[in-house]
Amino acid sequence: LNPYNFQMEECGLNLANCRAKGGAAGFKVAVLGAAGGIGQPLAMLMKMNPLVSVLHLYDVVNTPGVTADISHMDTGAVVRGFLGQQQLEDALTGMDLVIIPAGVPRKPGMTRDDLFNINAGIVKTLCEGIAKCCPQAIVNIISNPVNSTVPIAAEVFKKAGTFDPKRVLGVTMLDVVRANTFVAEVLGLDPREVDVPVVGGHAGVTILPILSQVKPPCSFTQKEIDYLTDRIQNGGTEVVEAKAGSGSATLSMAYAAVKFADACLRGLRGDANVVQCAYVASAVTELPFFATKVRLGRAGVEEIYALGPLNGYERAGLEKAKKELAASIQKGVSFIKK
Ligand code: NAI
Repeated sequence: LNPYNFQMEECGLNLANCRAKGGAAGFKVAVLGAAGGIGQPLAMLMKMNPLVSVLHLYDVVNTPGVTADISHMDTGAVVRGFLGQQQLEDALTGMDLVIIPAGVPRKPGMTRDDLFNINAGIVKTLCEGIAKCCPQAIVNIISNPVNSTVPIAAEVFKKAGTFDPKRVLGVTMLDVVRANTFVAEVLGLDPREVDVPVVGGHAGVTILPILSQVKPPCSFTQKEIDYLTDRIQNGGTEVVEAKAGSGSATLSMAYAAVKFADACLRGLRGDANVVQCAYVASAVTELPFFATKVRLGRAGVEEIYALGPLNGYERAGLEKAKKELAASIQKGVSFIKK
């Protein structure tokens, strides 16, 4: 089932021995949902990441092809493919980081919550595998609705007795990537110089760009604030509509996921001051989960930053966000508890 391993063995080569000589130090990373719209470019970009020594690609379809293809890239990571539920445990065993983009994406007219019925079950199954095979791994959850799938993952891990709030992270990086891009456009700056904190969650009004804290320091007119807030909150829908039925953001998401995974790996390596926004178990608000800037380290989330000073517009947005988030969190928790 793994054409890469299969071909090596056919030639009389033992993959494990061959690769042991290379001896690349690095982390073991699994992508679950690796044959999908996000999964494929994400897997390709992770294969290019020098911090990755082993890359496991798991999906319920098409992993042999994706694995054969990506394994020909002349970068350090060893790529192995895993197909179907019966290979999930092998895919997960020994992993340091597990990235989950498995599940169905939105079509025009759908909210992220409309995906709940299908994706909740997928995330549950995958997290049960993680609890069993790599309970120490950092988990990056991309599958929507992130506002609910992260609480689902936490409940699965609690049930299994493996929950570590520092290791379960909802990926909201695409909201930050979009915010940096759109704000840079308005300010006439290079997006790489712009840092916009985006807090709350990852759906509609729960996506809260904190424009008063943009770096470099700047000011916006109310018209610009309205435009930017709306565009950042609805960036996903902009892509869903442009793709007209063929899915949601995949390429920019893969880019964002790899930017985030790289930060997690740099944290694991012990780099100082690795800070990104993520949706995590948090005491920043009265809600059990909330996205803010977090500092990533060897243990995963090592510090959660407070919201900092908000203006009246942002405080009003926060109240709206919290209401919707509370319901989404509850929905995720009850899915496992019922
Ligand atoms: P896709 O349909 O192209 O790919 C999903 C992949 O998951 C498929 O290859 C499918 O076979 C696989 N899959 C389904 N059930 C599985 C299971 N039980 N185990 C392993 N793999 C399984 O979808 P796409 O566009 O890649 O999106 C994936 C998810 O990411 C969606 O839920 C989407 O809403 C979400 N997303 C999240 C974003 C974020 O910012 N967090 C942004 C964009 C999308």
